[in-house]
Amino acid sequence: MELVNRPRRLRKHAVLRKMVRETRMDKSSLVYPMFLMEGSNLKEEIPSMPGQYRYSVDRMEEQLIKLQDAGVSSVMFFGIPSQKDELGSGAYDEDGIVQKAFRKAKEACPELYLMGDVCMCEYTSHGHCGVLQGQEVENDKTLELLAKTALSQVQAGADLVAPSDMMDGRVSAIRRMLDRHGYETVPIMSYAVKFASSFYGPFRDAAGSAPAFGDRKSYQMDYHNRREALKEAMLDVEEGADIIMVKPAMAYGDLIREVKDRTTIPIASYSVSGEYAMVKAASQAGWMDEAGVLCEMATSAYRAGTDIYLTYFAMELAKYMDEGRIG
Ligand code: PBG
Repeated sequence: MELVNRPRRLRKHAVLRKMVRETRMDKSSLVYPMFLMEGSNLKEEIPSMPGQYRYSVDRMEEQLIKLQDAGVSSVMFFGIPSQKDELGSGAYDEDGIVQKAFRKAKEACPELYLMGDVCMCEYTSHGHCGVLQGQEVENDKTLELLAKTALSQVQAGADLVAPSDMMDGRVSAIRRMLDRHGYETVPIMSYAVKFASSFYGPFRDAAGSAPAFGDRKSYQMDYHNRREALKEAMLDVEEGADIIMVKPAMAYGDLIREVKDRTTIPIASYSVSGEYAMVKAASQAGWMDEAGVLCEMATSAYRAGTDIYLTYFAMELAKYMDEGRIG
């Protein structure tokens, strides 16, 4: 048969296949999310996320060192306080769980890049991401508390803050607060395009942060919307975000690509707890090959335009990148 174009020619040899790969990844772009809890000598497995743990601050170091050894150079901290209240005061307490974790991590692993998730839902008794007025989350009152939370994390040692609450105007509120205290060089990575998603289920289990009533649809985005995703991204760029995130990652590759093409700042995507749980459950049942699936998921996020990838599989991916399986 006379065929001029045979795409298979480029697939025949493993060396050439690698040479013509279009998506290149590097483990320096991986961020590992970690849950920290009060108490001592605790490492509790999260039931809905097998292989992931909540650590007390005195036990976190072993995990940080393992990550560094694997070549993962950044972590994102989530705090699980022992007490919650209406105003989520544990979020901005100088001696709060995440603040203690930052101080300890800075001292134990000074080379690690430390990111702080800035939100109220792990700290409020009602589980919503802000202050309530009746049954509603009050946007403008919450901004003040978010800014205080970001500042307290930075003062404790966070290198970057990442607001995930989806209040309007939080990026500028945080930027102003940080600048006023001399932290004008600390970047903000905004969870700009964050959807009200069932994929967060296992996280809420891990952090005990499910809302006590209602849902998050009045502040997180409706997943039917594409133009609104661009609006959210643009607004955060205008407010001074340094990096913007799309979350979840797996079902939202179209938006990662679009936000990437329409902005000029780096794009992060977050492969969330539900993505992790699905892969784990199916591979534990013997229904899918875990390594194969997570390599494919990660590559699709990068192919869509991800620069920074947050994932509970960071350590595994670093290994597969080293082995040349992906990357
Ligand atoms: C806090 C926050 C959540 C996640 C990251 N930051 C939960 C939520 O919005 O309900 C989800 C992360 C994950 O599922 O892995 N607001």
